[in-house]
Amino acid sequence: MVATPKLAVILVMMMAYPSSAFQASSSSTKNTMNTRIPTQIDLFGNAMKNAFSNDDSLGKREDAGLKKGPNVSDVTVNGTPVKAVAGQKVSQVMAAARVKINYSCKKGDCGTCELLMNGRNEKACTSVIPRGKCTIQTY
Ligand code: FES
Repeated sequence: MVATPKLAVILVMMMAYPSSAFQASSSSTKNTMNTRIPTQIDLFGNAMKNAFSNDDSLGKREDAGLKKGPNVSDVTVNGTPVKAVAGQKVSQVMAAARVKINYSCKKGDCGTCELLMNGRNEKACTSVIPRGKCTIQTY
């Protein structure tokens, strides 16, 4: 008999775990419409049972990243409130808000992307969201 490597592995596993891994439970042999067949495969016993469980010795979970959380600004774009962080590029905020802005140079030279931010003309490609309240109007 010529056995492939996969078949050899399966045969070894069946010999190592004869009682639990590859045998159907006695209740499943009486398969009626209302009985459930267990779907658990117990190849390695309980060796991996606690491998991915939480470690209680680490204490309470903290937020990852910034200690005090992100510095969120109160931003409205054309009257619609938008989530933004102070220091974030205006072009990114506008894209996230799905507001179409025309760009040309993307360096702040041409003025194609001008908009009104807190009453002042700003270029969307180079400006960032300020701290606090920010109102943006597109032309
Ligand atoms: S794209 Fe030219 S100034 Fe913004």
